[in-house]
Amino acid sequence: MSGEVERANALQTYADETASCMRCALAEGRTQVVFGAGNPNADLMFVGEAPGFHEDQQGIPFIGQAGKLLDKLLAEIGLERSDIYIANVLKCRPPQNRDPLLEEIASCESHLFRQIELIQPKLVATLGNFATKLLSGKPLGITRVHGQEQEVMLGPSRVLLYPLYHPAAALYTPSMLKVLSEDFARIPALIGRADALTPVAPPVAAEQAPVLAAVTELEPVQLGLF
Ligand code: URA
Repeated sequence: MSGEVERANALQTYADETASCMRCALAEGRTQVVFGAGNPNADLMFVGEAPGFHEDQQGIPFIGQAGKLLDKLLAEIGLERSDIYIANVLKCRPPQNRDPLLEEIASCESHLFRQIELIQPKLVATLGNFATKLLSGKPLGITRVHGQEQEVMLGPSRVLLYPLYHPAAALYTPSMLKVLSEDFARIPALIGRADALTPVAPPVAAEQAPVLAAVTELEPVQLGLF
């Protein structure tokens, strides 16, 4: 079996396991777990916040208004969904689309870390504050750090982390949309740069997977949206 097929199978197996997750109270209100979607062998992975109404209904991340904007931004740089992988910090929809709670992130984060470990993207673009703070392990908000790539270790892998405004925040704010579009325009070059990073180790078995970051080290207020 090729490495690519093996990776896709491992990710599907993990998605199947995650489908019955009961780690937090969001399990009670969800229609389904929204695991992630796209190319399991992508070099570029996006990480958003949490499923909304449409995502919860259909089981696919970013298919509402923010998702349509994301598709447009991808098209502007010559990419489509099948070129990337996309997932969220939380896999289940919070009621009324409220912000994720610290304990929900803490319960859910290992699903995201395992996804990253299996996919081994080279460039991880975080959309908004929650994904940025979780994966950078730093409390700096998106307004300060958007568009500033940084090398981080995510488990055994060295990746380029690229914080971006969340498309939902840019939907109705033209100035933010302009910045988001400019930040997106750098993605193709950053993929090339990320390619040159030290090669990653092969994925490890789930039970051996290191704890990649501890969101609980961040103060709740540090995980806010802007
Ligand atoms: N916003 C997110 O952060 N994720 C989705 O899947 C949809 C909207």
